[in-house]
Amino acid sequence: MDALKKCLEVEHISKTFYNNKGYFTAIDDVSFDVHEGEFLVLLGPGHCGKTVLLNILAGLEEKSGGRVLYKGQEINGVNEEMSMVFQLLSLMPFKTVMENVELPLKFRGMDKKQRREVAQHYIDLVGLTGFENAYPHQLSGGMKQRVGIARAYSVHPEILIMDEPFGQLDAQTRYLMQQEILRIWQEEKRTVIFVTNNIEEACYLGDRIILLSSCPATVKEIFDMSALAKPRDIVSREFLEIRSKISDQTDLSM
Ligand SMILES: Nc1ncnc2c1ncn2[C@@H]1O[C@H](COP(=O)(O)OP(=O)(O)OP(=O)(O)O)[C@@H](O)[C@H]1O
Ligand SMILES: [Mg+2]
Repeated sequence: MDALKKCLEVEHISKTFYNNKGYFTAIDDVSFDVHEGEFLVLLGPGHCGKTVLLNILAGLEEKSGGRVLYKGQEINGVNEEMSMVFQLLSLMPFKTVMENVELPLKFRGMDKKQRREVAQHYIDLVGLTGFENAYPHQLSGGMKQRVGIARAYSVHPEILIMDEPFGQLDAQTRYLMQQEILRIWQEEKRTVIFVTNNIEEACYLGDRIILLSSCPATVKEIFDMSALAKPRDIVSREFLEIRSKISDQTDLSM
């Protein structure tokens, strides 16, 4: 992995909404780079503008100012090289696991035989072999998230965007899924932009952590975590030191 090759450049992004109460700034002059192959964590408090920022990066939401460059080219509109694991689960309730994972492949015009093969690969990768014909209501929260992850990976994006994917899970399942996402990231070697408001999760997963302020979101500090080998021991002295350093910089509302 060439850790310093930029695949995304986020330059001076701002976002202001206008509603019946007037103007409201959600993002204020946010800039950072994303390096090819890295696991980048955006860590910020609740309601600070994380989802709005991700939607702008993916081209799902218009920005008020700034630019997003993908491999040196300015992107306006949806970036087909990105795929999103959404904060709120967006599985189709009347479709099976297989059909949910196949859906984006179908939209992209892949024929049935090929999309079944691709979907099966990612269902296996996320550990759901045997659940291909199950419906979402038959799955646990962690299993549903696995379907969301398989679906996002199935289109073979250059960049995976994950918006607090484990926020709704109980502590034990969350820890298991953190280990799983690292395994998948190591196997698939795609760039990941992962959003969380959980400091420990950020320290466990991130190669770098972009610390965001409370609303409007600004970049407070960028932490390089590469000195800590993965998988990380969350009770080691080094881990606890960096965790407390980040904790000192974060807003109380986190
Ligand atoms: N379409 C919109 N119109 C007006 N305000 C909006 C709109 N979308 C988001 N906001 C506001 O922008 C701010 C940031 O919202 P956003 O959803 O990005 O926060 P977040 O950091 O993802 O929060 P959470 O931690 O709850 O997921 C919030 O105050 C929200 O109310
Ligand atoms: Mg959000």
